[in-house]
Amino acid sequence: MTKTYRVASIPADGVGKEVIAAGRRVLDYVAGQSNDAFAFQWDDFDWGSEYYARHGKMMADDGLATLKDYDAIYFGAVGWRNVPDHISLWGLRLNITQNFDQWANIRPVKFLPGVQSPLRKADDTELDWVVVRENSEGEYAGLGGRNLSGRGPGNEVVLQTAVFTEKGCERILRFAFDLARTRTVKKVSSVTKSNAQQYGMVLWDETFQRVARDYPDVATESVLVDAMSAKFILHPEDLSVVVASNLNADILSDLGSALAGSLGLAASANINPERRFPSMFEPVHGSAPDIAGQGISNPIGTIASGALMLDHFGLHNEARAVEAAIEATTTAGHLTRDIGGTANTDEVTDAVINALSRSLVSA
Ligand SMILES: NC(=O)c1ccc[n+]([C@@H]2O[C@H](COP(=O)([O-])OP(=O)(O)OC[C@H]3O[C@@H](n4cnc5c(N)ncnc54)[C@H](O)[C@@H]3O)[C@@H](O)[C@H]2O)c1
Repeated sequence: MTKTYRVASIPADGVGKEVIAAGRRVLDYVAGQSNDAFAFQWDDFDWGSEYYARHGKMMADDGLATLKDYDAIYFGAVGWRNVPDHISLWGLRLNITQNFDQWANIRPVKFLPGVQSPLRKADDTELDWVVVRENSEGEYAGLGGRNLSGRGPGNEVVLQTAVFTEKGCERILRFAFDLARTRTVKKVSSVTKSNAQQYGMVLWDETFQRVARDYPDVATESVLVDAMSAKFILHPEDLSVVVASNLNADILSDLGSALAGSLGLAASANINPERRFPSMFEPVHGSAPDIAGQGISNPIGTIASGALMLDHFGLHNEARAVEAAIEATTTAGHLTRDIGGTANTDEVTDAVINALSRSLVSA
């Protein structure tokens, strides 16, 4: 009997529409080759900045209640010129991640064959690490205020408060250790800033030390975020799992994907590990207004996010097949402009599907 996965598709803005269409083609192809073992039912939601222009809100009022029963969410990118970024982000993407307690954000940094890295070391060194981002609190807790504007121009005072709970720190740190145990290099690097942030980050550090005692088989290090940004460039071969707070991991994962060659390559999964809510799979990049609508966006980050979704569904062989097809595609030189090629979004997607047709048939 065919297992049908119900997935809410939210392309949202800019290149989000192009890359989600590409990712869906690949996932549908994988399902089509499964001998009716599984299929995807895609339901489209037109939420985003155009929806905002029509309705004055980023998503429907009952949007979260509607999404709650899906098996997963496949998300493009949000943000356009007509809506301030903090409204579009909080109105849609963060609304979903926060309310569905998608507290673990996995962002692998993958160096693909055939893609030139700005890092010279990448030419002759095996580099492969994953950023685990605390995705529910920290600096993006959304708490604070700006209601002292009555003091007059030039005197405004605002509070943007970071929140660190022991439970929040512990669950993401354990997640990182559990992930490290599944990898060849069993090591967790914790990113901190406890020299300057003496409350939240000290709690983070203490929790890291306590949790680490339960994983004697996993190597550890604690690195200040400024030093870690240097380490990404100078000693990335030392990294396996890098766990960091919401803001720090957000910044470091963009650095990681730039080092791998382009923001367009980076995949991401926002996971609710307890599975009380659907998890959300999306590329790391934004809506890329500078290239949107031209059909030249790199679909690989979104396709690789689809592989993370397959993993989430327990379809591990299929996930590995998609990753291998991505590697075959870049090896053969089917590259979009951001990584030095001339192929467009459709051509790269076709190449991934062609590679899959060879591997899934021969499997
Ligand atoms: N997860 C999200 O929804 C998300 C993440 C980041 C930014 N944003 C929003 O996106 C908008 C644009 O932000 P930005 O310019 O800072 O970041 P961006 O990621 O959209 O673009 C940064 C650069 O990377 C390039 N790029 C991004 N994705 C690409 C792809 N798939 N293929 C090829 N090149 C790609 C762009 O052309 C641009 O030069 C803003 O409104 C921002 O708030 C949304």
